[in-house]
Amino acid sequence: MLILGIESSCDETGVALVDASGTGTPRLLGHALHSQIEMHQAYGGVVPELASRDHIRRVLPLTDAVLAQAALPLSAVDAVAYTRGPGLAGALLVGSGVACALGFALGKPVIGVHHLEGHLLSPFLSADPPTFPFVALLVSGGHSQLMRVDGVGRYDLLGETIDDAAGEAFDKSAKLLGLPYPGGPALARLAQQGDPLVYRFPRPLLHSGDLDFSFAGLKTAVLTQVKRLAHARPEGPATPHLADPLTAQQKADVAAGVQAAIVEVLVKKSMAAVRRTGLRRLVVAGGVGANALLREQLGAACAQAGVRVHYPELHLCTDNGAMIALAGGMRAQAGLARGEDHGYRFDVLPRWPLADLALVADTV
Ligand code: KG4
Ligand code: ZN
Repeated sequence: MLILGIESSCDETGVALVDASGTGTPRLLGHALHSQIEMHQAYGGVVPELASRDHIRRVLPLTDAVLAQAALPLSAVDAVAYTRGPGLAGALLVGSGVACALGFALGKPVIGVHHLEGHLLSPFLSADPPTFPFVALLVSGGHSQLMRVDGVGRYDLLGETIDDAAGEAFDKSAKLLGLPYPGGPALARLAQQGDPLVYRFPRPLLHSGDLDFSFAGLKTAVLTQVKRLAHARPEGPATPHLADPLTAQQKADVAAGVQAAIVEVLVKKSMAAVRRTGLRRLVVAGGVGANALLREQLGAACAQAGVRVHYPELHLCTDNGAMIALAGGMRAQAGLARGEDHGYRFDVLPRWPLADLALVADTV
């Protein structure tokens, strides 16, 4: 059972092929990715229309590259999985349109995949795959959630952000420091030169007793701190960017302080979720899961608590086609993908809570 997967929900075009034969964990046969980061950098963020147009340019050459890697013809594909949502509507439509066209031409089913389910299951492609059940910390640019995962399609939300996502907090703080998009990796790099104890930023909802997050206040705290430092400099704040008057060390210290605040909240809440559920496994997925400090501190906390922690391979933390092919394959194996009923509709769901996954008739 060979599944071709197509990811086009935001600013990465990803295509991959997995072998989901039998009941074992699907095996990755090939994957290719084109990141649009350079294209969007000039605008300081993703421009949806440019994203859609670029997905159109990339998706078929990437598909050819994946099939060449796997040394297989297109006709060997048994089903085509695509990201159905959530994401940018126009960008999603590209992947959906191509998946439906390929499926129709081949006479094969298509499988609409929830983007977050892709992230959630992505550690199954790692050298150290998890087993069900586990707690999942899903931290991406648009989502911060803690979930109990009992099997494919069996996801219980334990807590989530009530405002900004963790990735958004990284990105917005980075912007305030004048760092290029996407801010998360840039801020993490700068933080290596900084001291996290110089400026202390709030840890919202740390002691709220529930498993929810709130990161919106952080950007206000960063803005206030950057303004204060800028005004204190002789050249004052009248420079092209608010953070320009800051010294390199001040910027690095702010970056380190912000990262420490976000990571502490994510680690404490994840460990609380593990305690509450009594589960002994934690899976971390989504772009922020690539953060080295988060990995270090979660690793230490889990080791102390006797909890196994699993991550996707570093290059599969951010958006990619492999996780979509994998999720399509695992859904098919679990009998949850009835692709033949799909009718090749371009039915994307730009807003699609993971909790509604089971409610949406026939992803598929
Ligand atoms: O999962 P992802 O690729 O896309 C979404 O589905 O949103 O996550 C992207 C997010 C961005 O906010 C980016 O800044 C953040 O993940 N990110 C990081 C790191 N790498 C990516 N944040 C902190 N540290 C990193 N190393
Ligand atoms: Zn993502």
